[in-house]
Amino acid sequence: MMTAEELHEKLSTVDTGVCNYTVEKCREYIPLVNKILQLKKEKNAIILAHTYVNPEILYGVADHVGDSYLLSDIARKSEQDTIIFVAVTFMAETAKILSPTKQVFHTNLDGGCSLADSITGQEVADLRKKHPEHTFVCYINTTAEVKAQCDICVTSSNVYQILESLENDKIFFLPDRLMAQNLQVYLKEKGIDKEILYSEGSCYVHETYDAEMIDYLRLKHEGIAVAVHPECAPSVTHKADYVGSTGGIYNYVKETGAPSYALVTECGLSSRIQVECPQKKIVGSCAFCKYMQGNTLDNIAHVLETSDSQYEVKLDLDLVAKASTCIENMFSEVEKSNSALLS
Ligand code: 13P
Ligand code: SF4
Repeated sequence: MMTAEELHEKLSTVDTGVCNYTVEKCREYIPLVNKILQLKKEKNAIILAHTYVNPEILYGVADHVGDSYLLSDIARKSEQDTIIFVAVTFMAETAKILSPTKQVFHTNLDGGCSLADSITGQEVADLRKKHPEHTFVCYINTTAEVKAQCDICVTSSNVYQILESLENDKIFFLPDRLMAQNLQVYLKEKGIDKEILYSEGSCYVHETYDAEMIDYLRLKHEGIAVAVHPECAPSVTHKADYVGSTGGIYNYVKETGAPSYALVTECGLSSRIQVECPQKKIVGSCAFCKYMQGNTLDNIAHVLETSDSQYEVKLDLDLVAKASTCIENMFSEVEKSNSALLS
């Protein structure tokens, strides 16, 4: 059980720009926080939360906080019977694909994603007919139907490394056109000749950032380090000191000593750094993802209490088998390159 003072102690350094966490505010959250902690124990459930969700969830009730790669890996290795995935729907679906015998719930019925919603499985099947020689690589921000049509999945933490190591030099990358363009630049700079075709999706949050914003921050804050998510445009990643997943950016900030940092991604990461690395100075503005923000303590408590079937991820077994090959291919590639690094 947790007290309002304990929650406040964890969250006292957070300033989201729209709220901060006074003891009074924490007192409002505490009844729900404790109800969730109790239900979680009774139901043998694990709560996985993406870095972008609100701090009272991350530091009140979550068992693990991370990026889409880390959370998928934890989901597939977890021993609990029930997984509560507090993020967006495609992430909960990925957990179900990797753990089909477990009950997996998401906690926001409106948990879309502008990338995952940009292309259907049927559209990918049609593209495959048009491009039979290409290896189809999908970003994890896709539906189970799309994953079932693709050869291998990637996340922002391994996309560059996997694309580089694929043997086929004809790649169809989907659904993020900006990430695909970043890959084209990266491979060209490394002297690797691969054709990257792509579909036209984008993240509605990350596409709003522009290069002028980075120029402005560099002028205002001498020595600033700029960390950018690869869902941003190449004109933005080009100006970054570091490009990587939310987990990668977190580690970069933690392990380096710049006088200030700009985090060119969703606001949730700034709150996480404010809590876990309060000595780091974060400057500039950030944007919220409305889908991630739709997760609440209320919904988590409701799902745990009622096992409301509306929130349960249910997937056809055939679909799970096909989509799981696509995701497991990613884990094998990552394991292969990790062991090559160690040897
Ligand atoms: P990460 O895997 O880097 O957390 O990215 C997920 C995402 O949706 C970013 O917008
Ligand atoms: Fe999707 Fe963008 Fe939200 Fe990430 S930030 S979940 S890519 S809409």
